[in-house]
Amino acid sequence: MTAPAGTPLRRLAILLSGRGSNFEAIADAIVRGTIPRAGIAAVVSDNPEAPGLRIARERAMPAFAVDRKQFSDRESHESRVLSILQDASPDLVCLAGYMRLLSPAFVARYPGRILNIHPSLLPRYPGLNPQQRALAAGDTVSGCTVHFVDEGADTGPVVLQREVAILPGDSVEELSRRILAEEHRAYPEAIATVLDRLKPA
Ligand code: GRF
Repeated sequence: MTAPAGTPLRRLAILLSGRGSNFEAIADAIVRGTIPRAGIAAVVSDNPEAPGLRIARERAMPAFAVDRKQFSDRESHESRVLSILQDASPDLVCLAGYMRLLSPAFVARYPGRILNIHPSLLPRYPGLNPQQRALAAGDTVSGCTVHFVDEGADTGPVVLQREVAILPGDSVEELSRRILAEEHRAYPEAIATVLDRLKPA
């Protein structure tokens, strides 16, 4: 992590399970300065095969696979993830396609300091396949939401939402692609906003 001399560096931890395109957008935004004075202190995945982990290693970032299958229960898995986070000492934990629900104990360790991005206009369509559900409902608008994480699934306070029009004849793939492009702008912007408001950890 590098920053101009004398400026406090805000530390991000990223939790992901797959592709990692939002993580990459966040990393690029740090380089561009859209998220100023920040660095990625750890990238953690519950899936050792996650392409996002490979991206982190290619960028010489601290990358950790914590394979859920190697742990007997959620508590022991989370405890390993938490010990990595403790060492990384993040100001903000960003879920970027992390496919596990965090326990109340985990959330309580980082009050007001965990963000998630979801490809719908919450509170509509929390959980899986929101793009498909928006199309099936005949909606004309969808989008993405960046929100604080609480004990529920996609239920915490909203930081920022972006609308994406649903076009006649849209497929799930086309709609998902346009929402994802919007996510890549929205997540860095939301992170910059939240970091600005945060007191030092
Ligand atoms: C994104 O659509 C995000 O909103 C959802 O999971 C997907 C992750 O994609 N939570 P990626 O791994 O960031 O490419």
